[in-house]
Amino acid sequence: MSKIKARKGAPYARILGVGGYRPVRVVPNEVILETIDSSDEWIRSRSGIETRHWANDEETVAAMSVEASGKAIADAGISAEQIGAVVVSTVSHFSQTPAIATEIADRLGTAKAAAFDISAGCAGFGYGLTLAKGMVVEGSAEYVLVIGVERLSDLTDLEDRATAFLFGDGAGAVVVGPSEEPHIGPTVWGSEGDKSATIKQTVPWDVFHTHARLRTDGEALAGELSELPLDSKGELKFPAITQEGQAVFRWAVFEMAKIAKEALEASGLTADDLDVFIPHQANERIIDSMVKTLKLPEHVTVARDVRTTGNTSAASIPLAMERLLATGEAKSGDTALVIGFGAGLVYAATVVTLP
Ligand SMILES: CC(C)(COP(=O)(O)OP(=O)(O)OC[C@H]1O[C@@H](n2cnc3c(N)ncnc32)[C@H](O)[C@@H]1OP(=O)(O)O)[C@@H](O)C(=O)NCCC(=O)NCCS
Repeated sequence: MSKIKARKGAPYARILGVGGYRPVRVVPNEVILETIDSSDEWIRSRSGIETRHWANDEETVAAMSVEASGKAIADAGISAEQIGAVVVSTVSHFSQTPAIATEIADRLGTAKAAAFDISAGCAGFGYGLTLAKGMVVEGSAEYVLVIGVERLSDLTDLEDRATAFLFGDGAGAVVVGPSEEPHIGPTVWGSEGDKSATIKQTVPWDVFHTHARLRTDGEALAGELSELPLDSKGELKFPAITQEGQAVFRWAVFEMAKIAKEALEASGLTADDLDVFIPHQANERIIDSMVKTLKLPEHVTVARDVRTTGNTSAASIPLAMERLLATGEAKSGDTALVIGFGAGLVYAATVVTLP
């Protein structure tokens, strides 16, 4: 017999508030065309993207997170001291340690909330939401702040035709707290590591170390040096996100619609029960294809934030959610299917009630 006493939290959890932050600078396709051979027409028709936001020096990962979180906390009608845990999903915080979540928890004025980062690419928001629900129901935190934040402009190779136009910056946050009824359905999630090479960093961070070593090692290693991403002056390019666009596109279109369907079924719902669909904002053609495969009825509002926000990875779902509510396209209490998918490859889908 175990002598360990268990703890019980709330019967269920729900999203109580949402907030977003988009950087001040709006970047139209014309700016992207300065560095790649493309056209506004091509970018719009192949991806749906018209503009994206790029952060300035002051709009750091922490600063954008604090802005978005402040709005989410106010929207939830609680105070920062009531937050028991801060979960930050990001791939663009460039210090390995400490986690950026601790700085954010402190700047928000939480009362020593537990704080940590997760790395789950464009599924990061769904992963964080799933952890938050578990914490609220288990009782390790009454309120959990889940933040998705990215400065993908730092990780974009502006000379890469396949990705230069895709990415944007921003932060989205939600507060998850106790509920008497289930307002966050079962998560359907997973990973397909056999496809990990389809979206990746051009080179790992320690490439700078390798570069320095190869440079001092002379001619014998000149071959190896030439395999590193160098610019025209022989300087090392900063690591960037690269992808096999078509392979990722096919995977998203064929496999992710099935996952979305499974999440609906796990919640005991059908497409008719939905009010809103918020897929990861990667490409509007992927969104259109999922809408068709899922046979979503006309009355379902579909998030198309990608047009003016681009792909902001972990931030894309909470940013899209915030905008739908702010514009009145969706309303509090609506039933929404959310699905994130991306680098890993990883995915997470669930049905939620909007705050
Ligand atoms: C990136 C993406 C928009 C490219 O669209 P695509 O239709 O697959 O484009 P392809 O790479 O097949 O290229 C088609 C043609 O356009 C050309 N092309 C590629 N990039 C171009 C650009 N930026 N501008 C103009 N033409 C371009 C190619 O050279 C090719 O020409 P060809 O037919 O003469 O050979 C698309 O693959 C995509 O969205 N993939 C998934 C991205 C994603 O969601 N990633 C993140 C997941 S989290």
